[in-house]
Amino acid sequence: MAHLLHLDASARSESISRELGQDFVAHWKNAQADGTVTYRDLVRDPVPPVDEARVRLSTLSGQNGVRDLAAMDEVVAATPELAGAWAATRPLIEQFIAADTLLLGAPMYNFSIPAALKTWIDRVTLPWLPVAGKSVVVLSARGGAYGPGTPREPFDYQETYLRAYFSALKIENVEFVHSEFTHAPVMPFLAQFRDQQKASHTAALETVEALATRVAAGSVSS
Ligand SMILES: Cc1cc2nc3c(=O)[nH]c(=O)nc-3n(C[C@H](O)[C@H](O)[C@H](O)COP(=O)(O)O)c2cc1C
Repeated sequence: MAHLLHLDASARSESISRELGQDFVAHWKNAQADGTVTYRDLVRDPVPPVDEARVRLSTLSGQNGVRDLAAMDEVVAATPELAGAWAATRPLIEQFIAADTLLLGAPMYNFSIPAALKTWIDRVTLPWLPVAGKSVVVLSARGGAYGPGTPREPFDYQETYLRAYFSALKIENVEFVHSEFTHAPVMPFLAQFRDQQKASHTAALETVEALATRVAAGSVSS
């Protein structure tokens, strides 16, 4: 049975990335009647930031050659002061492992990703995280435009960062959908880009629909 882990990271409720995510899930469920979705709103229900105990989980993983949850359980059993850090981390890792596809609502914040999502990444990423070969879909919204040939292309540390991160986890099957110029309807200095904003959003919705159907069919290509 297919399983989706859906995380939202926009601080806004009238959010484009949230809208794209809801659309993706609706189409995915249409095509995948038996599929299940685990959802977490990383803004309304934030993951605890990394603290010293969480860092020690990473260090002990390396020192003890940990490769899976059971081995980590044993290490923590011998280090009771880390029980709380592990209790805050283990369920998130389990959710990631259980998912076939990770669906991220990830707006661009200051050329990168929201801190809420970065906090989740920092919390779940242990050296042995067994998630190679999963697929990831990133639904992004950006106030401006960062595509190939644009003046701001070199400022895109959102897609480039996430691609590098997932590649390090041996996840190469990563698809991005960007709705761009979302500031154009509200910011006078971007008024000239309102048509491009509409076109970008329409294209994003179409891509999301097609992608959701493809992911449900298990045929996402990298
Ligand atoms: C804290 C913050 C930082 C932002 N930084 C950028 C940025 O660097 N580049 C950009 O194009 N838009 C930036 N924006 C605009 C958002 O990317 C844009 O509003 C987007 O639509 C937000 O996603 P959402 O609609 O899902 O909330 C920023 C917005 C916020 C709140």
